[in-house]
Amino acid sequence: MTRKVLLTGGCGYIGSHICMELIKQGFTPVILDNLCNSSTIPLRRIEQLTGQPIPFIEGDIRNEATLERLFSEHAIEATIHLAGLKSVAESVAKPISYYQNNFAGTLPLCEVMQRHGVKRFIYSSSATVYGLTAQSPIREDAPTAPASPYGQSKLMAEIALRDIAHADPQWKIAILRYFNPVGAHASGQIGEHPNGVPNNLMPYVSQVATGRRPFIQVFGSDYPTPDGTGVRDYLHVCDLADAHLCALRWLDGAQGIRTFNLGTGRGYSVLEIIDAYEKACGHPLPRQFLDRRPGDVASYHADPGLAVDELRWRATRDIEDMCRDAWNWQSHNPNGYVES
Ligand code: NAD
Ligand code: UD1
Repeated sequence: MTRKVLLTGGCGYIGSHICMELIKQGFTPVILDNLCNSSTIPLRRIEQLTGQPIPFIEGDIRNEATLERLFSEHAIEATIHLAGLKSVAESVAKPISYYQNNFAGTLPLCEVMQRHGVKRFIYSSSATVYGLTAQSPIREDAPTAPASPYGQSKLMAEIALRDIAHADPQWKIAILRYFNPVGAHASGQIGEHPNGVPNNLMPYVSQVATGRRPFIQVFGSDYPTPDGTGVRDYLHVCDLADAHLCALRWLDGAQGIRTFNLGTGRGYSVLEIIDAYEKACGHPLPRQFLDRRPGDVASYHADPGLAVDELRWRATRDIEDMCRDAWNWQSHNPNGYVES
């Protein structure tokens, strides 16, 4: 019998890559997603690629009845919790939605898990919890100071998880703070499909590369960085998916709760990303230099040492791999997921 893992938000960008990796490594992912920012097309593609049927429940993490049914029908041994909202700008306009989905939504999930005696949990958090002033390389014990309702909502869920683990030592919890996930699965069949105009650099560059947008807007060229543009710790989404499998294995021997940074430990500037993408797609990418984006920091990167030591995980894919796979996905799916 295979080991069943509940994957909330499994139809989304990161979830679909974790789903693929779970199947590859012999687990059965059970997907719960309300499809508010996704569709079931990635699941159908993964089923085609792997030949495995994927149990899918369309529903909301805030609906306790749905969760009850799910845990009664499936012998889940651990949950990887990705379901949530992720736009910084939207969170400023709609804070209630963010606190409801990201913070409050985590509670019924834990409550139903506890009732069913399932106490292994992996939580998708973000480097955004460190806020704007953290010194790089950022370690897990750096102070937290989120600068948006999105960041606050992720940190509040972390705090609740810490209290849950302290109240009941049977809980085993890994909090994973992602830096900047980019790229796509090497098959070109699953990838990132942002709604509307992409907020993040890599999907925007991808859409310029296919001609869907005329030029890249480079936000700020006067930062105190080597080329004046912002520097981030980009991480291949398949390395990120691998980290969840390492965390699942780590939970087998773990006790209590632990937080891990997931990044490569090195930063790339906006211009370095554009250069690497030009090599991947084989043509020049027009860009315009604009003012800094409000709320952006000049530069940050992770210290991933704890994940290396404890999870036995290390990112293996470099910036060329990230851009090649992003371009492979984008050029084969210029409009993202569309029904065929
Ligand atoms: P995504 O929007 O592609 O995926 C999230 C999925 O969750 C979507 O399929 C959406 O339909 C689903 N969902 C949202 N609210 C739900 C609810 N209440 N009930 C059930 N399903 C719900 O986002 P992603 O990029 O795959 O991010 C996944 C997780 O990783 C999020 O928790 C996000 O905060 C975190 N994260 C993402 C990034 C990033 O850059 N993408 C960085 C750090 C952390
Ligand atoms: C953003 C979010 C962060 C979230 C992360 C998810 C903000 C302020 N921060 O981080 O909370 O966790 O996404 O991956 O929104 N850039 C451009 N042109 C663009 C887009 C971005 O020049 O069109 C620059 C930015 O100024 C930055 C870099 O590219 O220097 C990366 O930006 P982005 O991909 O949005 O990620 P973050 O800012 O790190």
